[in-house]
Amino acid sequence: MTEFLRLGVNIDHVATIRNARGGAHPDPLKAANIATVAGADGITAHLREDRRHISDADIARLRAEIDVPLNLEMAVTEEMGKIALRHKPNACCLVPEKREEITTEGGLDIAGNNNRINDFSKMLQEQNILVSLFIDPDEVQIRASADVGADIIELHAGSYAHAVISGDQKLITHELEKLCIGAELGHKLGLEVHAGHGLTFDSVAAVAALPQIVELNIGHFLIGEAIFIGLDASIKKMRHLMDKARATLG
Ligand code: PXP
Repeated sequence: MTEFLRLGVNIDHVATIRNARGGAHPDPLKAANIATVAGADGITAHLREDRRHISDADIARLRAEIDVPLNLEMAVTEEMGKIALRHKPNACCLVPEKREEITTEGGLDIAGNNNRINDFSKMLQEQNILVSLFIDPDEVQIRASADVGADIIELHAGSYAHAVISGDQKLITHELEKLCIGAELGHKLGLEVHAGHGLTFDSVAAVAALPQIVELNIGHFLIGEAIFIGLDASIKKMRHLMDKARATLG
């Protein structure tokens, strides 16, 4: 029997809209609560170094008030390490971060930063925080993630999602194959496998049908779609598409 596929809803862009006017509305905590009732199994928030969306106060409120696990995305910096230890989220997803980028553009280079990631991960794991590494679906990075003792890898689904938008069938097949091989390898190495970035109603099904993947983290599309159909309906529709794809596996 295939494992249940969890949905982590990333609420960063509720904060993006709030911050456009500098006030308190719309409130990411309210969005997290609506998401949870609509079927989110976890809430994900990225505390960026420049605080362009989620703030330190948001993390404190989410940690104190949501009923589902909190996955804190963050860069591997001393400041973020201290924040994680203070709030003790259920998991930390370590991501690369460049200030000038619009969103997280590629996966972390675990292979090239072995010792640093190793020490950082241990510091979090000693406090019972699960460590997830956001990486490209690349064999070297997946093996390096297992070597540093990560609990989870989150495979960067952005290239696949872009391929779906492009409509280039050859590219779609190629990018999906990379996720498929990556998920199999991660699972074989004993890592919990997640995927995320850029997923939409059109691209979610094929990723949801990869049996080794047990969690998808989705944000921007869900919040964008909420403008048209509401957050509750947007999440319920994504949940339905995930469940339908998963049901094909038996
Ligand atoms: N997973 C990770 C590690 C991310 O950095 C992001 C974007 O913050 C997501 C998932 C969600 O991506 P999107 O907002 O494109 O759905």
